[in-house]
Amino acid sequence: MAIAPASASNPATSAAKDYDLPWVEKYRPHKIADIVGNEDAVCRLQVIARDGNMPNLIFAGPPGTGKTTSILALAHELLGANFKEAVLELNASDDRGIDVVRNKIKMFAQKKVTLPPGRHKIILLDEADSMTSGAQQALRRTMEIYSNTTRFALACNTSAKIIEPIQSRCAIVRFSRLSDRDILDRLLRVVQAENVPYIPEGLEAVVFTADGDMRQALNNLQATFSGFQFVNQENVFKVCDQPHPLHVINIIRHTTGGNIDEAYTGLKQLYDLGYSASDIITTLFRVVKNYDMPEYLKLEYLKEVGFAHMRIADGVGTILQLSGLLAKLCIIRDEAKAV
Ligand SMILES: Nc1ncnc2c1ncn2[C@@H]1O[C@H](COP(=O)(O)OP(=O)(O)OP(=O)(O)O)[C@@H](O)[C@H]1O
Ligand SMILES: [Mg+2]
Repeated sequence: MAIAPASASNPATSAAKDYDLPWVEKYRPHKIADIVGNEDAVCRLQVIARDGNMPNLIFAGPPGTGKTTSILALAHELLGANFKEAVLELNASDDRGIDVVRNKIKMFAQKKVTLPPGRHKIILLDEADSMTSGAQQALRRTMEIYSNTTRFALACNTSAKIIEPIQSRCAIVRFSRLSDRDILDRLLRVVQAENVPYIPEGLEAVVFTADGDMRQALNNLQATFSGFQFVNQENVFKVCDQPHPLHVINIIRHTTGGNIDEAYTGLKQLYDLGYSASDIITTLFRVVKNYDMPEYLKLEYLKEVGFAHMRIADGVGTILQLSGLLAKLCIIRDEAKAV
């Protein structure tokens, strides 16, 4: 699969404009087939794009995983040249109160557009979880009355924020965080297309900082490139301002060696660099998850890191909290050794 910049299909975009375009937009896939990861969801969409007759859909999943991209690609593939007149796109930046549903959406649903058989007008409601429940209520009947001619596609981060009656009228397409492999493949294509000097460890660091979010990965890559013109681990962690995992790995190594003083020194260094407790605990969690240690010990470690994360999220993000965690980890390791 070749990666084509958005401008390739749009000659109106000048080269100079291209230069300024954020990579997330420049490399936003335009075809469903180019969307990476979430194979089941993408397969379903391809079937819908082929056969037409799109049901009402809810796309739910974490940020930067391709929801908006898939909705737009699906609408383009279904409607082709009719996209402009047959699609109404509203996102959280538009007013979507109850009046808009009553007027704009209803008017659009009533509008007559000649489409090939099996195709419908599409109303895209992006970031639908920010719609008030009143506005969602007002959609219920509209969805049914105009189902002959108009279908809805909603995107949201948490499907629980969409009221039950709307959920029951829609098929849910779930997106999950993208795998490191998928993100790395995509980054490799982008660095080749953009001639970015890099070392593999640098790209791995970008993948680590992104945590399954493709948008974040591309943004971090571009930020590192424009800041340092070279993508290596050090530059990535400087730009992304996350604790360096190697540093955190050292802390964990000291706890598994029962060396609380050294572990604390490492922690204090991070804290003094200005990282917040929640930055540190997030990286700590991901490092422990991938750390090579006995299964039992790892589960116990994760449990304690989880509890500490909860307390930090509650607002107790002190160095005392974190050093308490290190002490717990040392005790766990001692107990595991005694067994
Ligand atoms: N699965 C994917 N395949 C390829 N590129 C992707 C994918 N997901 C995201 N991207 C890249 O990230 C950018 C943002 O993706 P998108 O707008 O679809 O995210 P989203 O799921 O709608 O997130 P949000 O919940 O924040 O709205 C896209 O422009 C694209 O470059
Ligand atoms: Mg979106």
